[in-house]
Amino acid sequence: MPEGRVLEFTGVTKRFGPVTAVGAFTARVEPGVVTGFLGPNGAGKTTTLRILLGLVRATSGVATIGGQRYAELAQPLQTVGAALEASSFHPGRTAANHLKVYAQAAGIPHARVDEALGVVGLADVGGRKVGGFSLGMRQRLGLAYTLLGDPGVLVLDEPANGLDPEGIKWMRGFLRELAAQGRTVLVSSHMLAEIQQSADSLLVIARGRLVFQGSLEALTPPDEFATLVDAPDRAALRTALDARGLGYDVMRSGLSVRGADPAAVGAIAAAAGIALSTLQRRGPALEEVFLDLVNGIRTHMPDAAAPPAIAPAAPALPAAEAPDVPPAEEEAPDDLDEAIAVDRPWEAAEEKTESDVEADHFFSRYDDARRPDGEGDRR
Ligand SMILES: Nc1ncnc2c1ncn2[C@@H]1O[C@H](COP(=O)(O)OP(=O)(O)OP(=O)(O)O)[C@@H](O)[C@H]1O
Ligand SMILES: [Mg+2]
Repeated sequence: MPEGRVLEFTGVTKRFGPVTAVGAFTARVEPGVVTGFLGPNGAGKTTTLRILLGLVRATSGVATIGGQRYAELAQPLQTVGAALEASSFHPGRTAANHLKVYAQAAGIPHARVDEALGVVGLADVGGRKVGGFSLGMRQRLGLAYTLLGDPGVLVLDEPANGLDPEGIKWMRGFLRELAAQGRTVLVSSHMLAEIQQSADSLLVIARGRLVFQGSLEALTPPDEFATLVDAPDRAALRTALDARGLGYDVMRSGLSVRGADPAAVGAIAAAAGIALSTLQRRGPALEEVFLDLVNGIRTHMPDAAAPPAIAPAAPALPAAEAPDVPPAEEEAPDDLDEAIAVDRPWEAAEEKTESDVEADHFFSRYDDARRPDGEGDRR
């Protein structure tokens, strides 16, 4: 089983001209859990992930995978499986053909292609052209690509986009399973609800800054929630709560016990032999907490290294903070070339080195031979 590795971001900053897309981003992502990377549109998620994957050069700071920069990895595809939101596939090629090209380039046995397609539920359509794939099918194909090298680290940018409810449920279970195997799973989303079910740990980014790192539970401070509890014998319940010194408000629907979770309240009732008719957690919905965080209304960093709060009305782009702003075309052309090559590997393949041509030739024969109708999938 491949080992997960720690991902580490240290003071990562990326400026695009006057725009600070990511600012002094410091965070650590552990193996064995699903880490959700949350933030609203434009918060800097994709940019941060691109820096981790060596697709964009950070203005300052460093991002490492098991202590190494992406470019230093001896076998990148076997170490990190990455699917970025911009990833696209050549419409004229079959799903299997795509994966074979990548497998060939990375020295991965071809048998992995069918395995990976099977794992993501695309076994039956591997021979179909990607141009005819739905968005959800493309997402699954992107995931199959990340799994090709059986990597210990998975970095997925908004993988749930375009998936139907069944697909989202499948994705959640799948990510959990990968993490349970000891892999590192970092998955971005702009919607808390989407990854709330699967993520154990959260990084929240807003305007390029880390505004929260911790567990989902830690997102809601304990003094902000209550437990609604009721019993046919409410008087007995009140007596039991009074005896434990718990404060509560009497509501029509029950007693709202401040700062206690349902497990604690339930245990008190059980110990007093009281049958309950209601036991519910109440408090700010996580979504509200998340919105408050990203809007700077709430600041909540459990560790002392918390970055300063963002002023609610601050402009999205703190230009004043970047006196040494490089010229607007700071994004070097070589970065862009690299980005195209890795984000859209088929484009690189289209440049056709000798081995590409050979591989293409081999794959097209292979594909044709597998299809009973012999209909070519190549342009
Ligand atoms: N190549 C680029 N040139 C200039 N600005 C860029 C570039 N890439 C990103 N940005 C800017 O950086 C900021 C962060 O963008 P990024 O794509 O990282 O956000 P995101 O969190 O992934 O958003 P979304 O949820 O919409 O995918 C945005 O203001 C964006 O306009
Ligand atoms: Mg993005």
